[in-house]
Amino acid sequence: MSANDLRSSPAWTALQRHFSDARDWRLRDLFNADSHRFQSFSEQAAGIFLDYSKNLVSRDTMDLLCTLARERGVEARREAMFSGEKINHTEQRAVLHTLLRAPRGEQLMIDGQDLAAEVHQVLDRLGHFAERVRSGAWTGYTGEQITDVVNIGIGGSYLGPKMACQALRSVSHPRIAMHFVSNVDGHDLDALLARVKPETTLFIVASKTFTTQETMMNAQSARAWFLTHGEEKHLAQHFVAVSTNTKAVTEFGIDPANMFGFWDWVGGRYSVWSAIGLPLAIAIGADGFREFLSGAHGMDQHFRSAPLERNLPAILALVGIWNRNFLGSTSISVAPYHQDLASFPGYLEQLEMESNGKGVDLDGAPVTVATCPVIWGDTGTNGQHAYFQMLHQGTDPVPVDFIAALQPSHALPGHQEALLANCFAQSEALMRGKTGDEVRAELQAQGMAPDRIEALVAHRTFPGNRPSNTLLLDALTPASLGALIALYEHKVFVQGVIWGVNSFDQWGVELGKVLAKAIQHELSGAPNAGAHDASTNGLIARARQALLAQPLTDA
Ligand code: F6P
Repeated sequence: MSANDLRSSPAWTALQRHFSDARDWRLRDLFNADSHRFQSFSEQAAGIFLDYSKNLVSRDTMDLLCTLARERGVEARREAMFSGEKINHTEQRAVLHTLLRAPRGEQLMIDGQDLAAEVHQVLDRLGHFAERVRSGAWTGYTGEQITDVVNIGIGGSYLGPKMACQALRSVSHPRIAMHFVSNVDGHDLDALLARVKPETTLFIVASKTFTTQETMMNAQSARAWFLTHGEEKHLAQHFVAVSTNTKAVTEFGIDPANMFGFWDWVGGRYSVWSAIGLPLAIAIGADGFREFLSGAHGMDQHFRSAPLERNLPAILALVGIWNRNFLGSTSISVAPYHQDLASFPGYLEQLEMESNGKGVDLDGAPVTVATCPVIWGDTGTNGQHAYFQMLHQGTDPVPVDFIAALQPSHALPGHQEALLANCFAQSEALMRGKTGDEVRAELQAQGMAPDRIEALVAHRTFPGNRPSNTLLLDALTPASLGALIALYEHKVFVQGVIWGVNSFDQWGVELGKVLAKAIQHELSGAPNAGAHDASTNGLIARARQALLAQPLTDA
């Protein structure tokens, strides 16, 4: 057991004692006993309102959780992150995505370099380029304006820009369609290339490392496709890169003048604020992109300065710890009641699970409590007609984060009221449930025969007492989206500090990459050394038979 063992902390032990009472609480009773519960358990900052009253927490619970956060050093660690200490210790890197959204004029000197000034230089270039594409000043090789932008990237070089472009589609440039190709599966790129014209398409090759297999393969194939129409000399008008790796970008054939850089202190899943956000800057313009950054900065300021008790990211994180480590929930469902946030659950999958899906602490010792839960979800109301049955009556209570914007960006009458009514009704139903007596009374009122009622009571009862948070934005705008993403980033940070894991590395993705390389050679004709297990050998043999027309042999 590591000296850092969370379970030996006094606050953890106090929380365990507290939980032996809390486990019997009923949310209905908590609301009945306190008419101010909503006011007491809600907070607002940076344009986001958080209602966390529908969680099984009391003031004591929250105080104990804040004590835990302090004991684990959340505040000191937060300062270490903002000030550029190398808190990503396994990669010896600072973690400074917050600097990417700091306003012009702020300074952060590290190793004699003013990083903030560098950030703004790139931002200015990015904004200038985005505006040229938008205005039509940047053209394709025939002189036509760009109508389609294809972002080629994966993981953090895909999920953030795609989610944000979709979220802000109502304020996006009407002429320019955004496309995102990520999968090494050729069906992804092939289907897209059939729909765009080389003369009017701009490819953004987005990769922090510029070595990621999927991105490099898709970029090479896009380049080859382009060259069946245009010539080498036209490539510069149709391919730009976003990367930290100038050498690899140049070797690929992209002019470094058309490259937008960023830095090793920006993690992939935290990079939408950097030049990786280029598709968004083109979609909503340079000013819109700056609003997006400033919304996130507002949340950064709140996170850095507000006491933990009133700090939105800390509250979201602490309630999450309570649900995960004391109530034992193994997943969180994220339900944005806004169709434009359809990609937000997928974005959070990477943000949360690649960050905190870790099994060892900072010293490399096994963690002794459960870490990151599974993050999943879909938009409301769609999810209601798919998996909400399980949320209401399944055997594993799943906490839900409901997210809604009060003002829509469309003018269709009645829809917004229906949407919000569904959102609020779902959290109410999860919290209240429906007792057997309530079911009986309802069915009796309908005139149903007593034996039929008794046969149905259990099926129509809802256990309730299921926790949820509700996050409300005034409207989905560049600024509120920026604040929402930053809120979750900092939530992840706080949880990582409490669990004692490094939220900023991702070694767990490496093994599969290495094995895939060897298998790819074998599938392409290199002899199958039979070095794998029987299952993997068998699968390779079947695929070789299909791809190389080779007979099946026992490996
Ligand atoms: O799969 C792991 C990962 O390194 C992610 O963390 C990252 O966002 C993604 O791959 C893409 O990496 P790159 O931007 O270097 O292509």
